[in-house]
Amino acid sequence: MSEENRRFALAERPQGLIDENTFTLETNPVPGIGEGEALVHVKWISIDPTNRTWIGEEPTYLPPVQIGETMRALGLGEVIASNNENYPVGSLVNGLTGWQDYTVVSDSNPLMVVPDSAKDAPPATLLGMLGMTGCTAYFGMLEIGEPKEGETVVVSAAAGAVGTVAGQLAKLKGARVVGIAGGPEKCAWIVDELGFDAAVDYKADDWKTQLKEATPNGIDVDFENVGGEIMNQVFGRLNINARVALCGLISGYNATERPPDLTNFHKLLINRVKLQGFIILDYYPRFGEAIRDLAGWVAEGKLKSEQTVVEGFEQLPHALNMLFKGENKGKLVVKIAD
Ligand SMILES: NC(=O)c1ccc[n+]([C@@H]2O[C@H](COP(=O)([O-])OP(=O)(O)OC[C@H]3O[C@@H](n4cnc5c(N)ncnc54)[C@H](OP(=O)(O)O)[C@@H]3O)[C@@H](O)[C@H]2O)c1
Repeated sequence: MSEENRRFALAERPQGLIDENTFTLETNPVPGIGEGEALVHVKWISIDPTNRTWIGEEPTYLPPVQIGETMRALGLGEVIASNNENYPVGSLVNGLTGWQDYTVVSDSNPLMVVPDSAKDAPPATLLGMLGMTGCTAYFGMLEIGEPKEGETVVVSAAAGAVGTVAGQLAKLKGARVVGIAGGPEKCAWIVDELGFDAAVDYKADDWKTQLKEATPNGIDVDFENVGGEIMNQVFGRLNINARVALCGLISGYNATERPPDLTNFHKLLINRVKLQGFIILDYYPRFGEAIRDLAGWVAEGKLKSEQTVVEGFEQLPHALNMLFKGENKGKLVVKIAD
């Protein structure tokens, strides 16, 4: 065990992408533990678009990270000392660890202990397909999108962590699935490797034509990860009684200007569309059922899990920007310790 605890603290609120002034890297002694507490050695950090929303001025579904506070993030670690029988030494824990090497847990500041049945899964899978990411795709697609056999489902940010799972889940339900992703390589990958029926490359000049051609019967379900003009064009093709699972609006997370007008918003009214935004934290009590189903489908070879792994604690700020430059495929994680 190292004697030091590195942490990234928020130094200033970024305008646009984060830069070298956004965080300071500090080194402090490893915290001690008191009665009822356990010490966790954090080994893997989940990189999520919402991390960027937490360091803005405006409160979201959680209060903003304050200047000087450790950057908030999900992570996976091992209990290395314990005065709490709920956290035995050697157990794996998953939850809000932050960008630091060590964190202290207790019953009032809990993390989820990874059950024995899952602890042999690769760490990136525990943070991805079998973690918050997989659960987001599961509840968003199956309970809000509710795809039916033969319907057309569109997933944006389709080659990313949530999108890859959401699209494959809609395929499992017998839908025709169209993914929107950036660049020909990602588009070919989601079709050839993940089994999507078609892909739209939103970085190509003719992407709106591609979207029309890929959805000749209109769109019944929009699993929306991006917002902006991509969402607007999808809205323009929604069918009567379509559903929109509003999962994320990543195109706006670094924006310094207001988003373009949604010229197709009226389609929601004309076509009696049901749109529901959701925050996965609300489904936390039901994660067990989602993870059981997802693990079963992975074991049966019906779902493929993909990840991009970056190594090194000091890479954390860079890794967060990778999401906004499309430099990840599937779940993005940073390995910070062996
Ligand atoms: N509601 C919830 O509780 C919840 C939970 C988890 C995630 N989310 C949301 O789900 C979405 C996906 O999250 P994730 O964790 O799966 O991340 P991700 O999709 O793995 O990573 C982000 C991807 O978004 C695409 N992207 C980035 N900027 C874009 C832009 N301006 N326009 C179009 N595409 C852009 C990039 O792919 P390309 O290379 O294809 O551009 C990038 O790889 C995000 O909006 C996130 O906030 C919501």
